[in-house]
Order: sequence, then structure tokens, then C-alpha cells
Amino acid sequence: MRKGIILAGGNGTRLAPLTFSVSKQLMSVYDKPMIYYPITTLMMAGIKEFLLITNKEHLNSFKNLLKDGSQWGVNFQYAIQEKPNGIAEAIIIGEEFINNSPIALILGDNLFHGTGLIETLIDANDQDTGGTIFAYQVRDPYRYGVVEFNDKKEALSIEEKPKKPKSFYAVTGLYFYDKTANKRAKAIIPSRRGELEITALNNSYLQEKKLRVKTFGRGMTWLDTGTFDSLHEASSYIKTIEHRQGLKVGCPEEIAWRRGWIDEKELKDLAKPLNKSGYGSYLTSLIKYKRNINRFGIN
Ligand code: G1P
Repeated sequence: MRKGIILAGGNGTRLAPLTFSVSKQLMSVYDKPMIYYPITTLMMAGIKEFLLITNKEHLNSFKNLLKDGSQWGVNFQYAIQEKPNGIAEAIIIGEEFINNSPIALILGDNLFHGTGLIETLIDANDQDTGGTIFAYQVRDPYRYGVVEFNDKKEALSIEEKPKKPKSFYAVTGLYFYDKTANKRAKAIIPSRRGELEITALNNSYLQEKKLRVKTFGRGMTWLDTGTFDSLHEASSYIKTIEHRQGLKVGCPEEIAWRRGWIDEKELKDLAKPLNKSGYGSYLTSLIKYKRNINRFGIN
């Protein structure tokens, strides 16, 4: 079974003073903490065992929020990243947790939404060997890992924050790896900015032709939420979609129930303390209208 690692490290300096006492990944994205979105992305893939990695300062806040995960029929363990030493370090920190399993790694400030997402995630989860990453067209690729493709849409190279990007395709913060990831991560040499770059790990798979680079089309939404503007935009996006459809995005209680990891009674119990905010009535309405939608919440 694939295990999930959620990296919620960093100091959130681009959101100061918001982040002086609160973790960036616990800030609100409209009606729920930011961390719910990456967690639910992995839950949609079918992953139930998680390691949340954060810094010492914020560890207890995450534990208070997510507990041991049993309320959602999943399991959360926790670990600390002492310094922002790079994304690939998460795989080294998580060695014991991973215990030779394939993994999915997701960044705690990445938000994915769109038609076909769940099928894509399930498909990536089904791959036993190699790695799967996702590329998404952005206006400002130089801020990200950038994929170069040939005419056949095969990935040729990945560069981290290049000054002259070879395409508009950014690598998103969602990575599926086979059980060789840990060994590969340990072989990475720190980059010029002193980090164990996830791009180095992706290149290690790419060089051996073991990396699938899937592109998300324009009907998909990928947002990162690390600045005032992007945080506000993400909230507006979620509010717009949720108000229009009456369906929540990134709701762990809903996904747990649809997947059969919690039953109707457990969902009702989870709803009780959430009633005053309206979040609880959403959960109970799911039970009432369940016949209209299949287990993935797709019509
Ligand atoms: C990191 C990765 C980069 C990736 C991005 C996605 O960037 O290094 O390859 O495209 O996450 O959010 P960073 O968080 O270091 O800016």
C-alpha cells in the first residue's frame, strides 16, 4: 500500500506577519485549513496512511487539528523538519514511516481541483514502478521546476527555477514514487541554495527513463498559496465553486465517507461540533442526497 507524506515545513516568510504565530499551512483557504486540500488530494488517490512533516514550533497545532486520523478512517503520524533543507529531505526524514513502501509526497500549500483529477490520482497510485509527476501550464514558470518536452510530449529535462524556462510547464507539488525513492533521495547533493531539491530526485528517475510526466490540461486548477495574493485568490476560487455547486472542495469527512472509511453515524457525529459554521449541515446533507452521486462524488 502506498503511503502519503505531507510536507508542511518552511517559515512562511512571504506571508509575514500572518505566519509569525501560525503555520502557513493552517491558514484558511475559504472555509477550511489549507492543509485539508493536500490531505484530501491523497485521500482521493486512496491513501490512508500519512506522515505529516512540519517544524517544531507548529507540531502541536497540527496534532490538535488532525489527531491520529481515526476520525476520518485514516492514520496520521508526525515528524519534524528542523530546517527548510529541501523537499526531498522529507523522504529521508520519513524513512522509518515509509518502510520500503511506494509513496506519494505532496506539499502542504498545493491545491488541486478539477474534472478527471480523481481518476488521474487513482491511476498514479496504481503504478508500482518508477515515478509519476504532474506538469501544469503557468504564466511564470521561472518560479518552479520546469519540464522541457519534445514533439511527442516526452519529458526531456527538468530544471529548478530556471532563468530561461524551456517551456511554460511547471512541476506541481505532487509526486508519486516507487520504493527506490529513499535511496535516491539520500544520494542527492545539496543545490546552490543549500537544499535537497525535489527536481534532483525527479531527474534521477528521468535519467533512467522511469519518470512519467503527466500534464494537467486547462480544465484543471492548480494553485499554490504562499503569498497574500495567491492565498486570497485560492479562497475566492473555492468560495466561487462551492457556492455555485453546493459541493465542498477538499472536505476530508466527505471523502472518508464516500470511500467507506467512516459510516453514516460517524459522519453525523463529525458534523455535530461543526453545525454553527454550516460545515456540519453540509456533512449531514450528504447523507440525505447520497443517491444522486456515486462514491467519488461525481455525477
Ligand atoms: C518547489 C519545487 C519546485 C516545484 C514547486 C511546486 O518550489 O522546488 O520544483 O515546482 O515546489 O510548488 P519551492 O517551494 O521551493 O518554491
